[in-house]
Amino acid sequence: MRLGVNIDHVATVREARKINEPDPVAAAVMVDLAGAYGVVCHLREDRRHIKDRDVYFLREIVNSHLNMEMAATGEMEKIAIDLKPDMVTLVPEKRQEVTTEGGLEVAGNVDQLRQTVAKLRKHRIVTSLFIEPDIKQIKAAARIQSDYVELHTGRYANCQTERARKDELEKIQAGAVAAAKLGLGVSAGHGLNYHNVQDIVKIKEIEELNIGHSIIGRAIFVGLERAVREMVELIK
Ligand code: PXP
Repeated sequence: MRLGVNIDHVATVREARKINEPDPVAAAVMVDLAGAYGVVCHLREDRRHIKDRDVYFLREIVNSHLNMEMAATGEMEKIAIDLKPDMVTLVPEKRQEVTTEGGLEVAGNVDQLRQTVAKLRKHRIVTSLFIEPDIKQIKAAARIQSDYVELHTGRYANCQTERARKDELEKIQAGAVAAAKLGLGVSAGHGLNYHNVQDIVKIKEIEELNIGHSIIGRAIFVGLERAVREMVELIK
């Protein structure tokens, strides 16, 4: 299974002081060196962590795989088409949220999302839709011809009981199987850490995991290279 490391929270620390360090671009170099498959960043409409300058530098220095998360807005489409990340992951975005809450409503926005996906694919950008492991959303993602879906693992990660955790895991497993059967590439992410990732790794339809907070959090204590290597080991 491939690991994409989300480096947003390096920028979060930088923005706590509004200065120029720590630089997420430097983090991306370390992530590459530590053996991750790629780098993930989320350019938010409010630019609360990753900035335009970051994504352009990242495009220059990431030789592996750059996955840019963004909302499906006209502004972001323009940036993506100019930047040409290897992959764009479309996510829902609310200004007030602390982090992405829940998956994208694809089934209810088929026409708009179909256009965004078509534009990006025309520019040879691989598309992914961040969705709940819900059959209605998965079918809609296939209908609008996205290349990938990223299944939201946040609910699984937040479960308080073993029973609830097992139920959520089954939903992710069933979602991954259904998506793969429909010809979609499957990734997963949100809230995954060094403990809860083990059961997700067993789902063989999932090709890629995108993990940020737990890796950047561990990096404070053990260094970024070791934190990435430990996760690469766990999921391979
Ligand atoms: N995938 C998507 C679509 C996300 O929005 C995020 C958070 O930015 C992640 C994965 C990574 O989540 P976490 O930081 O909880 O590992």
